[in-house]
Amino acid sequence: MKTNIVLYLLNCFLLIGFSCKNEMKVSNEILLEQKVEALLKQMTLDEKIGQMSQIRHFEENADAHILEKFIGSVIHTQGPTPGNSAKEWQKRFIELQKKALATRLGIPLLFGVDAVHGQNTFEGATIFPHNIGLGATNNEELVYEIAKITALESQATGFNWVFSPCVAIPYNEKWGRVYEAFSESTAITEKLTKASIKGHQGNLADATTVMATAKHFVGDGATDYGVEGGETTLSDAEIQRYLLSPYKIAVQEKVAAVMASFNSINGISMHNHKALITDTLKIGMKFDGIVVSDWKAYSRFNGIEVVNAGVDVLMTVDGDLNDFQEGLKKAVQEKIVSTERIDDAVRRILRQKFRLGLFENPFPDTTLISKIGIKKHREIAKKAVRESLVLLKNDNQVLPISKEIKKIVVVGEHANNTGLQSGGWTVNWQGSTENYKGATTILEGIKKQAKGTVLYDKTATENHFDADLAIIVVGEIPYAEFFGDIGHESNQMQLTLTEQHQQYIKTYTEKGVKTLVILISGRPLVVTNEINKSNAFVAAWLPGSEGDGIAEVLFGDYNFKGKLPHSWPNDVTDYKQKYGPNFWDKTLKPLYEFGFGKTY
Ligand code: GLC
Repeated sequence: MKTNIVLYLLNCFLLIGFSCKNEMKVSNEILLEQKVEALLKQMTLDEKIGQMSQIRHFEENADAHILEKFIGSVIHTQGPTPGNSAKEWQKRFIELQKKALATRLGIPLLFGVDAVHGQNTFEGATIFPHNIGLGATNNEELVYEIAKITALESQATGFNWVFSPCVAIPYNEKWGRVYEAFSESTAITEKLTKASIKGHQGNLADATTVMATAKHFVGDGATDYGVEGGETTLSDAEIQRYLLSPYKIAVQEKVAAVMASFNSINGISMHNHKALITDTLKIGMKFDGIVVSDWKAYSRFNGIEVVNAGVDVLMTVDGDLNDFQEGLKKAVQEKIVSTERIDDAVRRILRQKFRLGLFENPFPDTTLISKIGIKKHREIAKKAVRESLVLLKNDNQVLPISKEIKKIVVVGEHANNTGLQSGGWTVNWQGSTENYKGATTILEGIKKQAKGTVLYDKTATENHFDADLAIIVVGEIPYAEFFGDIGHESNQMQLTLTEQHQQYIKTYTEKGVKTLVILISGRPLVVTNEINKSNAFVAAWLPGSEGDGIAEVLFGDYNFKGKLPHSWPNDVTDYKQKYGPNFWDKTLKPLYEFGFGKTY
């Protein structure tokens, strides 16, 4: 009897507690909306259009624009950095923030950056495997931790908004951005999108969290023939089933922003696609955050129609600022763009700035600077490297390598170059071909593990044919965006290895040397011949700064865990308009199925 009374009372307290917490949440949201409305009411049209404008910190007159044109956000991309040290980066952004706070209404700035695998624009930050490698781990706890560290190191360099994660579903390895996405699997993408947004945003108001951005809405990875910004020919049902669900998950996780995509869908540019941006995303999915344009959208996609489609913030860069501000003001005065549309955009911008706590804490926390690239962060990155590796072949148990092995020869420039192992969006937009601060190479990792002789034969010309094992590291050079599109005039990218890298493998295998090949690439490549020639073959994707983590698996300290996030092509003729399980030409048989991966 007494127990029942206690249980009853306990239930009452729990119910009261729950409803109080729920009521508090509701009242916080009501309070937030009241603050937004109160501020919106005071704003002039110029101030509202200013909030919709985003400029680069190094643009001429950036400081004056913030003061006089009421700029709402600043972006850092390829170009002059704010300085060498994180202290200098913070100092520059604090300077700009003070300009914004000195305007009539003192609305603080958002600072945005493409931190897509760590705070990769800052040399010395922890650089994680690109998302394709995280897709191979399929480990949401790990992705959550990585996002938290990326947010912290982004805040430490002065940013409160990252343009990540890319939640594309790539359907053609010819696309230059396959590696920015998690997987061809919608289910894996949904799972890791949720973890990434939770990790980046937390409750948004902490000094170590940032606004995340789900991108690029929608169909960026499913264009015909894998052309960046190309035409995505899909039925509404296919878009609904394969491409929209990661955004549904992102919106459920309260993602702060969604970025519009360069591609068109069935002939309509995504930046002008009102049905998908406003009707589907904003109304249908109840997305209450910011829709941000991609690069220089005003002049690329009929700017006024971009605003009318539902885009709230435009990257008014490369000379677009005045055209945008004057053009939009005129369009509002001529009622081509309604004040309701402008108010919807500004409401969303202010809402996220209040949620970030920017009005109370507009400046970055300087104590975070000492946490950039610390060992604890690098250990998480190394764990991600280990778990991302996929073992495709291991004849006669070549792996794990004995630490007592007498003589190893390591071959290939990718074995000893942290820029080459990290891919695009590393230090520079297009990545680096040099070693960069804080990173370790694959060769360094091998030397740490092996007790015998480790020789380095960069271009397979030193003929160490008496080695007990040749470890040949080959793959792609770094690239970003259309520079990675296979077939694009800007590059010589190809679906197979370069002749030079094919020769590295031939040189050692034809001499009968036991050979392990490690592939560094942003996508599956057609390497059927090279796999047949070698004794063991590992897909390492784009591991980032902790290259020495690879050897910890090769020498058996850890087992392989990675599974293919993409089906692996057999032949270059496999590529037609689209490539992937949902669009496959059913007569195609991949070399390895999605989800394949061997273990010890
Ligand atoms: C680029 C990319 C986008 C990036 C933006 C800002 O063109 O498409 O992913 O966030 O511009 O650099």
